[in-house]
Amino acid sequence: MRWLVTGANGFVGRALVRRLLSQGLPGGRALTQLAVTDFALDDDVADPRLLRLPGDLTQSATWADAFAAPLDGLFHLASVPGGTAEAQPALARAVNLDATQALLDQCRAQVERGGVAPRLVFASTIAVYGAALPPEVNDHTPAAPHMVYGAHKLMAEIAVAHASRRGWLDGVSLRLPGVLVRPPAPTGQLSAFMSDFIRELAQGRSFECPTSPGATTWASSLPGVVDNLLHAAVVDAARLPPSRSLLLPTLRFSMAELAEAIARVCAVPAPARVRWSPDERIEALFGRFPPLRTDAAERAGFVSDGDGETLVRRSLALS
Ligand SMILES: NC(=O)c1ccc[n+]([C@@H]2O[C@H](COP(=O)([O-])OP(=O)(O)OC[C@H]3O[C@@H](n4cnc5c(N)ncnc54)[C@H](O)[C@@H]3O)[C@@H](O)[C@H]2O)c1
Repeated sequence: MRWLVTGANGFVGRALVRRLLSQGLPGGRALTQLAVTDFALDDDVADPRLLRLPGDLTQSATWADAFAAPLDGLFHLASVPGGTAEAQPALARAVNLDATQALLDQCRAQVERGGVAPRLVFASTIAVYGAALPPEVNDHTPAAPHMVYGAHKLMAEIAVAHASRRGWLDGVSLRLPGVLVRPPAPTGQLSAFMSDFIRELAQGRSFECPTSPGATTWASSLPGVVDNLLHAAVVDAARLPPSRSLLLPTLRFSMAELAEAIARVCAVPAPARVRWSPDERIEALFGRFPPLRTDAAERAGFVSDGDGETLVRRSLALS
Protein backbone atom coordinates (compact mmCIF):
# COMPACT_ATOMS: atom_id res chain seq x y z
CA MET A 1 0.00 0.00 0.00
CA ARG A 2 1.45 3.35 -1.07
CA TRP A 3 -0.33 6.42 0.32
CA LEU A 4 0.24 10.18 0.12
CA VAL A 5 -0.50 12.91 2.66
CA THR A 6 -0.62 16.52 1.42
CA GLY A 7 -0.32 19.30 3.99
CA ALA A 8 1.75 16.78 5.95
CA ASN A 9 3.56 19.44 7.96
CA GLY A 10 0.35 21.10 9.09
CA PHE A 11 -1.49 20.71 12.39
CA VAL A 12 -3.63 17.73 11.35
CA GLY A 13 -1.08 16.35 8.87
CA ARG A 14 1.68 15.91 11.44
CA ALA A 15 -0.60 13.95 13.77
CA LEU A 16 -1.98 11.86 10.93
CA VAL A 17 1.47 10.94 9.61
CA ARG A 18 2.59 9.83 13.06
CA ARG A 19 -0.50 7.65 13.48
CA LEU A 20 -0.12 6.14 10.00
CA LEU A 21 3.49 5.23 10.69
CA SER A 22 2.78 3.79 14.15
CA GLN A 23 -0.49 1.97 13.42
CA GLY A 24 -0.91 1.70 9.63
CA LEU A 25 -4.40 1.86 8.19
CA PRO A 26 -7.33 0.44 10.16
CA GLY A 27 -7.89 -3.27 9.66
CA GLY A 28 -4.21 -4.05 9.88
CA ARG A 29 -3.43 -2.84 6.38
CA ALA A 30 0.29 -2.11 6.44
CA LEU A 31 1.82 0.73 4.47
CA THR A 32 4.83 -0.01 2.30
CA GLN A 33 5.44 3.66 1.56
CA LEU A 34 4.03 6.90 2.93
CA ALA A 35 4.80 9.85 0.67
CA VAL A 36 4.36 13.21 2.40
CA THR A 37 4.33 16.64 0.85
CA ASP A 38 4.22 20.25 2.04
CA PHE A 39 6.29 23.38 1.38
CA ALA A 40 8.81 22.13 3.93
CA LEU A 41 8.86 18.94 5.94
CA ASP A 42 10.26 18.35 9.40
CA ASP A 43 12.80 15.57 9.66
CA ASP A 44 12.03 14.59 13.26
CA VAL A 45 10.50 11.23 12.28
CA ALA A 46 12.85 8.55 11.01
CA ASP A 47 11.09 5.73 9.18
CA PRO A 48 12.24 3.92 6.05
CA ARG A 49 8.69 3.96 4.66
CA LEU A 50 8.56 7.77 4.72
CA LEU A 51 9.21 9.54 1.40
CA ARG A 52 9.51 13.31 1.85
CA LEU A 53 8.52 15.34 -1.20
CA PRO A 54 8.81 19.02 -0.32
CA GLY A 55 7.14 21.25 -2.88
CA ASP A 56 4.40 23.67 -3.81
CA LEU A 57 1.18 21.96 -4.87
CA THR A 58 0.38 24.77 -7.28
CA GLN A 59 3.34 23.51 -9.34
CA SER A 60 2.77 20.47 -11.55
CA ALA A 61 6.24 19.08 -10.75
CA THR A 62 5.14 18.44 -7.14
CA TRP A 63 2.21 16.32 -8.28
CA ALA A 64 4.38 14.50 -10.81
CA ASP A 65 6.77 13.52 -7.98
CA ALA A 66 3.91 12.33 -5.81
CA PHE A 67 2.40 10.18 -8.57
CA ALA A 68 5.75 8.90 -9.89
CA ALA A 69 4.72 5.50 -8.52
CA PRO A 70 1.06 4.38 -8.29
CA LEU A 71 -0.86 5.48 -5.22
CA ASP A 72 -3.44 3.35 -3.41
CA GLY A 73 -4.76 6.34 -1.56
CA LEU A 74 -4.29 9.96 -0.51
CA PHE A 75 -5.23 12.26 2.32
CA HIS A 76 -5.58 15.74 0.84
CA LEU A 77 -5.11 18.14 3.74
CA ALA A 78 -3.12 21.00 2.15
CA SER A 79 -5.12 24.18 2.17
CA VAL A 80 -5.12 27.93 2.63
CA PRO A 81 -7.13 28.56 5.85
CA GLY A 82 -10.28 30.68 6.11
CA GLY A 83 -8.89 34.01 7.27
CA THR A 84 -6.08 33.97 4.71
CA ALA A 85 -8.45 32.79 1.97
CA GLU A 86 -10.74 35.75 2.57
CA ALA A 87 -7.81 38.17 2.42
CA GLN A 88 -6.09 36.49 -0.55
CA PRO A 89 -8.77 34.86 -2.73
CA ALA A 90 -6.44 34.31 -5.69
CA LEU A 91 -4.01 32.35 -3.52
CA ALA A 92 -6.95 30.44 -2.03
CA ARG A 93 -8.21 29.54 -5.47
CA ALA A 94 -4.78 28.38 -6.63
CA VAL A 95 -4.38 26.04 -3.64
CA ASN A 96 -7.85 25.08 -2.47
CA LEU A 97 -9.39 24.71 -5.91
CA ASP A 98 -6.88 24.51 -8.76
CA ALA A 99 -4.34 22.31 -6.95
CA THR A 100 -7.16 19.99 -5.87
CA GLN A 101 -8.27 19.75 -9.50
CA ALA A 102 -4.66 18.97 -10.48
CA LEU A 103 -4.73 16.14 -7.93
CA LEU A 104 -7.95 14.76 -9.45
CA ASP A 105 -6.35 14.93 -12.91
CA GLN A 106 -3.40 12.91 -11.62
CA CYS A 107 -5.78 10.26 -10.24
CA ARG A 108 -7.55 10.09 -13.59
CA ALA A 109 -4.23 9.71 -15.42
CA GLN A 110 -3.25 6.88 -13.06
CA VAL A 111 -6.50 5.05 -13.90
CA GLU A 112 -6.01 5.69 -17.62
CA ARG A 113 -2.55 4.14 -17.35
CA GLY A 114 -4.26 1.00 -16.03
CA GLY A 115 -3.73 1.70 -12.33
CA VAL A 116 -6.24 1.55 -9.47
CA ALA A 117 -8.65 4.38 -8.72
CA PRO A 118 -7.09 5.59 -5.44
CA ARG A 119 -9.11 6.28 -2.29
CA LEU A 120 -9.05 10.04 -1.73
CA VAL A 121 -9.84 11.39 1.73
CA PHE A 122 -10.49 15.10 1.33
CA ALA A 123 -10.49 17.43 4.35
CA SER A 124 -13.49 19.68 3.80
CA THR A 125 -15.08 21.93 6.37
CA ILE A 126 -18.30 22.89 8.11
CA ALA A 127 -17.71 26.34 6.56
CA VAL A 128 -19.58 24.96 3.51
CA TYR A 129 -22.83 25.61 5.45
CA GLY A 130 -22.26 29.37 5.65
CA ALA A 131 -23.37 31.67 8.45
CA ALA A 132 -27.17 31.58 8.41
CA LEU A 133 -27.67 28.10 9.82
CA PRO A 134 -31.14 26.52 10.21
CA PRO A 135 -32.44 25.40 13.65
CA GLU A 136 -30.85 21.97 13.05
CA VAL A 137 -28.04 21.01 10.68
CA ASN A 138 -28.37 17.50 9.28
CA ASP A 139 -27.57 15.46 6.18
CA HIS A 140 -30.19 17.36 4.18
CA THR A 141 -29.00 20.86 5.06
CA PRO A 142 -28.01 22.65 1.85
CA ALA A 143 -24.49 23.98 1.67
CA ALA A 144 -24.49 27.77 1.32
CA PRO A 145 -20.95 29.03 1.95
CA HIS A 146 -20.61 32.75 2.46
CA MET A 147 -16.82 32.97 2.50
CA VAL A 148 -14.13 32.15 -0.05
CA TYR A 149 -12.77 29.20 1.96
CA GLY A 150 -16.10 27.39 2.28
CA ALA A 151 -17.01 28.08 -1.34
CA HIS A 152 -13.78 26.57 -2.64
CA LYS A 153 -14.09 23.55 -0.34
CA LEU A 154 -17.65 22.94 -1.59
CA MET A 155 -16.53 23.21 -5.23
CA ALA A 156 -13.76 20.72 -4.49
CA GLU A 157 -16.26 18.33 -2.81
CA ILE A 158 -18.39 18.40 -5.96
CA ALA A 159 -15.32 17.71 -8.10
CA VAL A 160 -14.39 14.77 -5.82
CA ALA A 161 -17.91 13.30 -6.13
CA HIS A 162 -17.88 13.78 -9.89
CA ALA A 163 -14.47 12.14 -10.30
CA SER A 164 -15.66 9.27 -8.09
CA ARG A 165 -18.72 8.74 -10.32
CA ARG A 166 -16.42 8.65 -13.35
CA GLY A 167 -14.22 6.03 -11.71
CA TRP A 168 -11.10 8.19 -11.62
CA LEU A 169 -10.83 7.89 -7.86
CA ASP A 170 -12.82 6.70 -4.85
CA GLY A 171 -13.45 9.83 -2.82
CA VAL A 172 -14.67 10.69 0.68
CA SER A 173 -15.02 14.32 1.73
CA LEU A 174 -15.21 14.90 5.48
CA ARG A 175 -16.67 18.19 6.67
CA LEU A 176 -14.43 18.85 9.68
CA PRO A 177 -15.41 21.16 12.54
CA GLY A 178 -12.83 23.19 14.46
CA VAL A 179 -10.01 20.86 15.53
CA LEU A 180 -8.57 21.27 19.05
CA VAL A 181 -5.98 22.13 20.32
CA ARG A 182 -3.77 23.94 17.80
CA PRO A 183 -0.29 25.01 18.90
CA PRO A 184 -0.04 28.74 19.61
CA ALA A 185 1.02 30.24 16.27
CA PRO A 186 -0.48 32.80 13.89
CA THR A 187 -2.11 30.54 11.29
CA GLY A 188 -4.85 32.55 9.59
CA GLN A 189 -7.52 30.39 11.25
CA LEU A 190 -10.33 32.53 12.61
CA SER A 191 -11.31 29.79 15.06
CA ALA A 192 -7.87 29.75 16.73
CA PHE A 193 -9.30 31.37 19.88
CA MET A 194 -10.94 28.05 20.82
CA SER A 195 -7.59 26.30 21.05
CA ASP A 196 -6.18 29.23 23.04
CA PHE A 197 -9.20 29.02 25.37
CA ILE A 198 -8.52 25.38 26.28
CA ARG A 199 -4.72 25.66 26.44
CA GLU A 200 -4.62 28.81 28.55
CA LEU A 201 -7.36 27.82 30.99
CA ALA A 202 -5.96 24.29 31.36
CA GLN A 203 -2.66 25.87 32.46
CA GLY A 204 -4.52 27.82 35.15
CA ARG A 205 -4.10 31.13 33.29
CA SER A 206 -6.87 33.64 32.57
CA PHE A 207 -8.34 34.12 29.10
CA GLU A 208 -10.21 36.91 27.35
CA CYS A 209 -12.79 35.12 25.20
CA PRO A 210 -14.11 36.85 22.06
CA THR A 211 -17.57 35.27 22.53
CA SER A 212 -20.31 35.31 25.11
CA PRO A 213 -20.51 32.40 27.60
CA GLY A 214 -23.63 31.12 25.86
CA ALA A 215 -21.98 31.02 22.41
CA THR A 216 -22.53 27.49 21.09
CA THR A 217 -20.00 25.89 18.85
CA TRP A 218 -18.97 22.56 17.31
CA ALA A 219 -15.51 21.03 17.68
CA SER A 220 -13.51 17.81 17.75
CA SER A 221 -10.22 16.81 19.28
CA LEU A 222 -7.21 16.26 17.03
CA PRO A 223 -7.01 12.52 17.90
CA GLY A 224 -10.74 12.21 17.17
CA VAL A 225 -10.31 13.81 13.75
CA VAL A 226 -7.35 11.55 12.98
CA ASP A 227 -9.51 8.53 13.92
CA ASN A 228 -12.15 9.67 11.45
CA LEU A 229 -9.64 10.40 8.67
CA LEU A 230 -8.23 6.88 9.11
CA HIS A 231 -11.71 5.36 9.05
CA ALA A 232 -12.41 7.29 5.83
CA ALA A 233 -9.35 5.65 4.28
CA VAL A 234 -10.93 2.20 4.55
CA VAL A 235 -14.71 2.69 4.78
CA ASP A 236 -16.65 0.73 2.17
CA ALA A 237 -17.85 3.10 -0.58
CA ALA A 238 -21.26 1.39 -0.45
CA ARG A 239 -21.74 3.02 2.99
CA LEU A 240 -21.25 6.54 1.58
CA PRO A 241 -23.92 8.87 0.19
CA PRO A 242 -23.79 9.68 -3.57
CA SER A 243 -22.39 13.12 -2.72
CA ARG A 244 -19.43 11.37 -1.03
CA SER A 245 -19.58 14.23 1.53
CA LEU A 246 -20.18 13.65 5.23
CA LEU A 247 -20.75 15.94 8.15
CA LEU A 248 -18.73 14.22 10.87
CA PRO A 249 -20.21 13.34 14.26
CA THR A 250 -19.19 16.38 16.29
CA LEU A 251 -19.81 17.69 19.79
CA ARG A 252 -21.85 20.85 20.29
CA PHE A 253 -21.27 22.85 23.47
CA SER A 254 -21.35 26.37 24.84
CA MET A 255 -18.13 28.12 25.72
CA ALA A 256 -19.27 28.19 29.38
CA GLU A 257 -19.76 24.40 29.26
CA LEU A 258 -16.29 24.05 27.76
CA ALA A 259 -14.82 26.07 30.65
CA GLU A 260 -16.60 23.75 33.11
CA ALA A 261 -15.24 20.65 31.36
CA ILE A 262 -11.71 22.11 31.52
CA ALA A 263 -12.19 22.76 35.25
CA ARG A 264 -13.21 19.14 35.86
CA VAL A 265 -10.41 17.61 33.77
CA CYS A 266 -7.59 19.91 34.86
CA ALA A 267 -8.74 20.75 38.40
CA VAL A 268 -8.48 24.50 37.74
CA PRO A 269 -11.10 27.23 38.38
CA ALA A 270 -11.49 27.77 34.63
CA PRO A 271 -14.96 29.44 34.58
CA ALA A 272 -13.78 32.14 37.00
CA ARG A 273 -10.71 32.87 34.87
CA VAL A 274 -12.60 33.77 31.68
CA ARG A 275 -13.29 37.40 30.82
CA TRP A 276 -16.09 37.38 28.26
CA SER A 277 -15.56 40.08 25.59
CA PRO A 278 -17.84 39.13 22.69
CA ASP A 279 -16.68 40.23 19.24
CA GLU A 280 -19.74 40.34 17.00
CA ARG A 281 -17.92 38.85 13.97
CA ILE A 282 -16.45 35.94 15.93
CA GLU A 283 -19.74 35.32 17.74
CA ALA A 284 -21.59 35.23 14.40
CA LEU A 285 -19.05 32.88 12.82
CA PHE A 286 -18.44 30.47 15.70
CA GLY A 287 -20.98 31.12 18.43
CA ARG A 288 -24.35 30.30 16.88
CA PHE A 289 -24.06 26.67 15.89
CA PRO A 290 -27.40 24.87 16.26
CA PRO A 291 -27.90 21.20 17.21
CA LEU A 292 -26.65 18.81 14.54
CA ARG A 293 -27.56 15.31 13.37
CA THR A 294 -24.99 13.23 11.57
CA ASP A 295 -26.93 10.05 10.75
CA ALA A 296 -25.16 9.26 7.46
CA ALA A 297 -21.69 9.49 9.00
CA GLU A 298 -22.73 7.47 12.07
CA ARG A 299 -24.20 4.74 9.84
CA ALA A 300 -20.87 4.68 8.00
CA GLY A 301 -19.00 4.15 11.28
CA PHE A 302 -17.64 7.65 12.04
CA VAL A 303 -17.67 8.79 15.70
CA SER A 304 -17.43 11.96 17.81
CA ASP A 305 -15.35 12.49 20.95
CA GLY A 306 -18.41 11.46 22.99
CA ASP A 307 -18.49 14.12 25.74
CA GLY A 308 -16.89 17.42 26.72
CA GLU A 309 -14.45 15.99 29.24
CA THR A 310 -13.16 13.44 26.73
CA LEU A 311 -12.84 16.20 24.16
CA VAL A 312 -10.73 18.27 26.59
CA ARG A 313 -8.59 15.30 27.65
CA ARG A 314 -7.94 14.19 24.09
CA SER A 315 -7.36 17.75 22.87
CA LEU A 316 -4.69 18.22 25.53
CA ALA A 317 -3.26 14.75 24.81
CA LEU A 318 -4.01 13.70 28.40
CA SER A 319 -5.43 10.36 27.25
N1 LIG B 1 -7.83 22.65 11.80
C1 LIG B 1 -9.13 22.87 11.73
O1 LIG B 1 -9.74 23.33 12.69
C2 LIG B 1 -9.88 22.53 10.46
C3 LIG B 1 -11.26 22.68 10.42
C4 LIG B 1 -11.94 22.36 9.26
C5 LIG B 1 -11.25 21.89 8.15
N2 LIG B 1 -9.89 21.77 8.21
C6 LIG B 1 -9.18 21.31 7.01
O2 LIG B 1 -8.31 20.26 7.39
C7 LIG B 1 -7.11 20.34 6.64
C8 LIG B 1 -5.90 20.33 7.60
O3 LIG B 1 -6.04 21.42 8.48
P1 LIG B 1 -4.82 21.93 9.33
O4 LIG B 1 -5.38 22.59 10.53
O5 LIG B 1 -3.81 20.87 9.49
O6 LIG B 1 -4.24 23.05 8.37
P2 LIG B 1 -2.76 23.69 8.42
O7 LIG B 1 -2.91 25.07 7.86
O8 LIG B 1 -2.14 23.51 9.74
O9 LIG B 1 -1.98 22.78 7.38
C9 LIG B 1 -2.16 22.90 6.00
C10 LIG B 1 -0.83 22.66 5.34
O10 LIG B 1 -0.99 22.87 3.93
C11 LIG B 1 0.23 23.38 3.45
N3 LIG B 1 0.04 24.08 2.18
C12 LIG B 1 -0.72 25.17 1.95
N4 LIG B 1 -0.55 25.56 0.68
C13 LIG B 1 0.32 24.70 0.10
C14 LIG B 1 0.90 24.60 -1.18
N5 LIG B 1 0.61 25.48 -2.15
N6 LIG B 1 1.76 23.61 -1.43
C15 LIG B 1 2.09 22.72 -0.46
N7 LIG B 1 1.56 22.75 0.80
C16 LIG B 1 0.70 23.75 1.06
C17 LIG B 1 0.68 24.35 4.55
O11 LIG B 1 2.09 24.59 4.45
C18 LIG B 1 0.27 23.64 5.81
O12 LIG B 1 1.34 22.93 6.41
C19 LIG B 1 -7.19 21.58 5.79
O13 LIG B 1 -7.58 21.22 4.49
C20 LIG B 1 -8.28 22.40 6.45
O14 LIG B 1 -8.97 23.19 5.51
C21 LIG B 1 -9.18 22.07 9.34
